[in-house]
Amino acid sequence: MTVDDMRRIAILISGRGSNMVALAEAVQDGRIPNAEISIVISDQPNAPGLVKAKELGIETLIIERRGRPRVEHDREVIAALQAQHIDLVCLAGYMRVLSREFIDAYRGRILNIHPSLLPLFPGLDAQQQTLDHGATSAGCTVHFVDETLDGGPIIAQRIVPVHPDDTVESLAARIIIEEHKLYPEAVAMVLGCIYRLATEGQ
Ligand code: GRF
Repeated sequence: MTVDDMRRIAILISGRGSNMVALAEAVQDGRIPNAEISIVISDQPNAPGLVKAKELGIETLIIERRGRPRVEHDREVIAALQAQHIDLVCLAGYMRVLSREFIDAYRGRILNIHPSLLPLFPGLDAQQQTLDHGATSAGCTVHFVDETLDGGPIIAQRIVPVHPDDTVESLAARIIIEEHKLYPEAVAMVLGCIYRLATEGQ
């Protein structure tokens, strides 16, 4: 990568893809400068986010798990990312734990967004966990992905209140609004760091 290149982002999804759309819009309107969403990859053939990506004119690729071992599936994903010369991998509702091989291939260049104030409430059903624990604040976190479950270094967070009458749905709706602002900010910040490192190296 040279400093003149556009930074190439891949987004991995499994479902709705609203964070993917938020990132694509931020690239389009310049909040994530000098970057393009090069590809959206889904492990689920029917992920609604695939339709949204196509509507946005983004290349899509389905790499199904098909019951294969994680490493085998990940190797196919890594090959697709390398073929696209991807600089940054953004997980956006990608419901698959990455293999060590995947993390090593893109260490420090894989981000994830999680709907809680990590390190609180990692894993599935973060909003339900938040309500079950009687927390009065919730939020979202963008972090680097490492071998731990939602435990990699934290990049940025946003806080929202928990209301006494909140349901999982009402809390999730409040959090996702902040996710859509936070993820583009964090991606812009990380790409800025990658740019500076590339500049210093030249
Ligand atoms: C988001 O809440 C994100 O934090 C979590 O999965 C959800 C994905 O939503 N990792 P979407 O597919 O981006 O709409």
